[in-house]
Amino acid sequence: MALERTFAIIKPNAVQDGHIGEIISAIEREGFTIHGLRMVHLNKELIEGFYQEHIHKGFFPELETFMMEGPVVLMVLEGEDAIRRWRELMGVTDSSKAAPGTLRNRFGRGITHNAVHGSDAPASAEREVHYFFSAFDLV
Ligand code: RTP
Ligand code: MG
Repeated sequence: MALERTFAIIKPNAVQDGHIGEIISAIEREGFTIHGLRMVHLNKELIEGFYQEHIHKGFFPELETFMMEGPVVLMVLEGEDAIRRWRELMGVTDSSKAAPGTLRNRFGRGITHNAVHGSDAPASAEREVHYFFSAFDLV
């Protein structure tokens, strides 16, 4: 399995609840290396560009309101099989169904306020990393 990069977000609920440190610790404990890290407060335009595949879905207005609630932490993670492994560490979308020990189980509250984001495929990882990070921001 090749070394991959994936894109991660610590979402507003987890930042507000004071879990940035615990989430970054879990990331490092799992052996990922962090190659980019920024904190931003997203606006409507950035969220609509980022979640373009969800824009016409029924849940989008709720997702958009949530993602604007407060600052988020954006990260680029690297590791063997990183895309799949980061999603495994996150757990399934609905926090109430996420397996014990996953980040969504530990820090999520329901399906929308689910604490973390992860790219779902190599093409989306590539797009998402470059949506928020320039070559200059990546180490
Ligand atoms: P993410 O993209 O954030 O890593 O999450 P995901 O792949 O597990 O889920 P996805 O289907 O891509 O949905 C993106 C985010 O939208 C919110 N959502 N709400 N109310 C609903 O039915 C619903 N479905 C999805 C969640 O915040 C989800 O992470
Ligand atoms: Mg997704």
